[in-house]
Amino acid sequence: MTTIDMHFVQGLTLAERAALVTGADFWYTAQVPGVERVMFADGPAGIRKPNNAQDTMGLTESEPAVAFPSAALLASSFDEDLLHRYGQQLGAAAAAKQVSVLLGPEVNLKRNPLAGRNFEYLSEDPLVTGRLGTAFVKGVQSAGVGIALKHFAVTNRESHRYTVSSNVDERALRELYLAQFEKVVKAARPAAIMCAYNRLNGVPMSENQRLLTGILRDEWGFTGMVMSDWGAVVDHVAALKAGLDLEMPGKGAQSVAEIVQAVKAGRLDEMALNRAALRVLQVMHDWARPAQTPTVDFAAKHQFARELAAQSMVLLQNWDEELPLDQPAESIAVIGELAAHPHFMGRGSSQVNPTHVVTPLAAMPKQATYAQGYRLDQTTADPTLVDEAVALAKRSDHVVIFAGYPDGYESEGLDHDDINLPDNQNELIAQLAAIHQHVTVVLQNGAAITMPWAGDVTAILESYLAGEAVGEATWDVLTGAVNPSGKLAESFPVYLGDNPATLFFNADAEKEDYREGIFVGYRYYDTKELEVRFPFGHGMSYTDFAYDDLQVEELADTVKVTATVKNIGDRAGKEVVQLYVVNEASWVAMPAHELRGFEKVSLAPGEATTVTFELDRRAFSWYNAANEQWQADNGHYEIQVGSSSRDIRLQAPLELTLGQTRQPVITADSYLDDIEASADPVVQIAFEQSGLKAAVQPLLDNPATVKIMENLPLRVLVTAGVDDAIVQKFLNLVLCG
Ligand code: BGC
Repeated sequence: MTTIDMHFVQGLTLAERAALVTGADFWYTAQVPGVERVMFADGPAGIRKPNNAQDTMGLTESEPAVAFPSAALLASSFDEDLLHRYGQQLGAAAAAKQVSVLLGPEVNLKRNPLAGRNFEYLSEDPLVTGRLGTAFVKGVQSAGVGIALKHFAVTNRESHRYTVSSNVDERALRELYLAQFEKVVKAARPAAIMCAYNRLNGVPMSENQRLLTGILRDEWGFTGMVMSDWGAVVDHVAALKAGLDLEMPGKGAQSVAEIVQAVKAGRLDEMALNRAALRVLQVMHDWARPAQTPTVDFAAKHQFARELAAQSMVLLQNWDEELPLDQPAESIAVIGELAAHPHFMGRGSSQVNPTHVVTPLAAMPKQATYAQGYRLDQTTADPTLVDEAVALAKRSDHVVIFAGYPDGYESEGLDHDDINLPDNQNELIAQLAAIHQHVTVVLQNGAAITMPWAGDVTAILESYLAGEAVGEATWDVLTGAVNPSGKLAESFPVYLGDNPATLFFNADAEKEDYREGIFVGYRYYDTKELEVRFPFGHGMSYTDFAYDDLQVEELADTVKVTATVKNIGDRAGKEVVQLYVVNEASWVAMPAHELRGFEKVSLAPGEATTVTFELDRRAFSWYNAANEQWQADNGHYEIQVGSSSRDIRLQAPLELTLGQTRQPVITADSYLDDIEASADPVVQIAFEQSGLKAAVQPLLDNPATVKIMENLPLRVLVTAGVDDAIVQKFLNLVLCG
């Protein structure tokens, strides 16, 4: 067996080493004597192994595979066990196709609902993305298939994706856009990471030494391979120097020649090439596929796709307990072409060739009757179809309208102009809501949409892009065979313009300015106290949960929080218990609260459980760009536990002491509260002895002047009538120690 080490690498010819750092073709690495080539394939929502190896656009068919739900739906499960099991199944499916490294999951954040790849992203929140991403990666890798985590980093729009510069401040970069990569890299140790197309603050990601080497390897300890997205390399030599290992798919012989020449001409240090070649070889060696190929039980995988989807769908609204529709004697009007032609997967690299699509129409219960209602290839109403739908609704006990986007609408490579459903669908929903008391809307969409009719319909079920078992899974939830337990991993604004990033999204061809900084998603809406259509973390059940007995205790290095949750309804159900931290201690811009923990619990009717959270220092930290440190400030916090970001059931104060206490350095620019905050006894003695305390005390005691006094630095106290000689005396005493 070949031992892969630097000695082995040095034994290869220069051309062989150069060949290793570029793809042999669209999907394979090169191979060298003693180490077989390995294959990559897309497939965050099912394996996409192209029939035609040269097809990277997904224009031709790929080999048949089970289409699982997209990440937007999977994330709504908030269920790490489920994601881990999903990873195992996906890994097994990849292994069966001789795939060594699977490209995905994508852990980029959902910053704005217009972004074309939102359906592939997990959440607007880095904790949710990081934890679910970790479970996903661990699952796949436990099945013997490596992961290339993508797209590193700050990829949040598709327009001009190969050249656009994501311009983001350091705090938002660390707290939001890198935090989930950091989590997955450290906790799941993916085989590889895929660098993104875009530039970051002007520097192409493929040449971004700070990110690819400084942060990823030196800070986070990543030891795997860095590969490029397909076509992300601008300058291969510069990329290798910056820390990229493998260019994909590469330019064939030309890429190899470039590298050979660069080494010969002294433009590329041979050590840099050897280092990259070694990392590529390591992946080829560690994730080599055994000759024996396991078989895939498509039927079992289809059932699993159904379970995944049903466990993740989000019941957004359910007035008067309209759902579940579990009375066989009551008739149901099923309306909307999406019931017959469901939108169940995105296009681009997520697209698979499904084995067995079960539409909502095919899976609908016996007492249901279908009317098309609208045409997916039009946005204006078809009067005949509308009349038919209205007539059917009138003679039915319940109406279920399938609404959303046509197949192909959600795709990588393009962004959207609005987040509205086609007019013909919005109009039809409004019309049916006006004539019927029992109207449920089932949504098939990849990201947040507007719902002008939300106040008029009875129930709303968000099914996102549910995979090939869309029909069965949807009816499982609608009929109550599965009690819904999904929660929104993204906020649904009332209007697109409510999202702060809308102001800058696609405003400039060359750059995307992240001026909203850390205020992404609920971090913005909740701080702004803006009405949202449905908040982050929201999702209903057919049962109810009561929260009680919040306990908060600071331990040596962590804060322990416990709360009791009880199922007070008459059905078994699952609840996602969410923990938010309110930071009132730090004097920097802070969101109203931030999600710092979540646990999904499963409870029988009447059953209660205690949920425990261990919050580490990082849960209280913000990123201080001035000294490049995560900073947890001691002081006042609030711990909130609840059912969504807007449904906080329990709250308790916390005086944090495990962090750091402010230690102001006293100068002429210091304020009186700096003196108060100083733990230095010299400062306190000087305050007394100089007479400064006596001079300012009356002004601090006077309600009319206290605020003004607190806002004057020492050198300006003279304007409040304090003798400057006293101030100087104080400063001299402090300086002399
Ligand atoms: C996409 C990647 C994908 C790759 C290979 C690129 O265009 O951005 O997500 O893995 O193609 O298909």
